[in-house]
Amino acid sequence: MKKVYIKTFGCQMNEHDTVKMLLILAGEGYLETGSMEEADLMLFNTCTIREKAHHKAISEIGRAVQLKGLRSDITIGVCGCVAQQEGAGLRKRYPMIDIIFGPDRILALPELLMRVRSGGTADALDLIDDRSNYRFMDKVPAEGCAPISAFVLAMKGCNCSCSYCIVPSVRGREISRPADEIVEEVGALARAGSREVTLLGQNVSAYRSGDGRRGEGLAGLIRRIAGETEIERIRFTSPHPLFINDELIGEFADNEKLCPHIHLPVQAGSDKVLKSMKRGYTRDLFIERASKLRESRSGMSITTDLIVGFPGESGRDFEDTLNMMRRVGFDSAFAFKYSPRPGTWAAEGMCDDVPTDAKERRLSELLALQRSMSRDRNEALVGTIGDVLAVGTDRMRKGFITGRRADNRIVHFAGNPSIIGDIVPVRINGANDNSLNGELCHDGEEVQRS
Ligand code: 5AD
Ligand code: SF4
Repeated sequence: MKKVYIKTFGCQMNEHDTVKMLLILAGEGYLETGSMEEADLMLFNTCTIREKAHHKAISEIGRAVQLKGLRSDITIGVCGCVAQQEGAGLRKRYPMIDIIFGPDRILALPELLMRVRSGGTADALDLIDDRSNYRFMDKVPAEGCAPISAFVLAMKGCNCSCSYCIVPSVRGREISRPADEIVEEVGALARAGSREVTLLGQNVSAYRSGDGRRGEGLAGLIRRIAGETEIERIRFTSPHPLFINDELIGEFADNEKLCPHIHLPVQAGSDKVLKSMKRGYTRDLFIERASKLRESRSGMSITTDLIVGFPGESGRDFEDTLNMMRRVGFDSAFAFKYSPRPGTWAAEGMCDDVPTDAKERRLSELLALQRSMSRDRNEALVGTIGDVLAVGTDRMRKGFITGRRADNRIVHFAGNPSIIGDIVPVRINGANDNSLNGELCHDGEEVQRS
């Protein structure tokens, strides 16, 4: 069998694309390997969301190209968002790259490999913006091979025009996947052993089962999945705050299978900065949606993304962000220093005027605030019991299991690996900044969940 090494950068969408590519490649006689040295085919599924991610991908590709200098029979492919952004120009820097293809052209992989086998290079870089021409990959793993927690593509692309964001230009316009296809895939995954699915989309909250604005939205899709499949937990990522409507909030209240967690990127807490980011909402609107979400379900967890040092962000604007974080009380947050991305409105039309050291100071202040809020919220859970999906053994401690609560918190607890894949009641007895410790509730013990 031939061997493929895939290195994946970036978001869950890329992770999911990698899973799908491995399924396609299995059909072409490739087996996955974790070692670059023994690979016949090396693929780099890249991310360009921030400058740092872009550099990381480029330097890994550089390593592969060096290896190819020693072993010319290796095929090198670059896909994902750097491939889409840089296109065939990437080969100017690295002439040894054989294949360059974008996220919309994953299904072309077998054909691209064939072209390389018959000599030369192969590229597939067109974005597909027309629903009738777009085909979502629907291969699912065989029975018994499905991941405990699986990703399912609900839509692709993004029609927003946030001024800092490169995603619309590398992932194209929004296209929603037909609901029947999604329900079918979730059903198949559940039959093959998955317990939890996460519906994916760059702006998943804009999902529409029909053309344009027609058809059911995300709430309707979730209702169908809950009613028509055996899957026990449903999640989605990432939504845009503007698209969080009462119907979706109501779904959190009414649908037990929809996990009480939402990752809702806010980006900033100052109206001035939100406006120049072109986010389309105000700080008050975000706070109102977040509090409605919190009220919809007990134990609801809200996590977010934040950018510090956006062009024009003053010390006062940054204070507004910290205050907004306190008001919402995020359960956890990812935060990033702003970096200009080519072709975006902010990079072309605004000056990256917040000095690096100010960005760094703001980032560490923000992270310290979030750390203490996360710890407080985690500590408040000590003594409560929640259902935990056991996902694997704890890499740090022998005899321990790592699991995920419905609110998305990671829990470590002593247990036998035979429970992996089960949903079990766990009492929380310790809190860390980013995870919880717990103990399995024993058989026959009265379990009263909080
Ligand atoms: N600079 C810094 N952070 C960014 N993000 C997106 N674009 C940029 C940028 N140009 C962050 C946002 C987004 C997350 C995935 O990455 O917070 O939600
Ligand atoms: Fe990175 Fe965005 Fe592409 Fe995901 S969609 S891989 S985060 S650039």
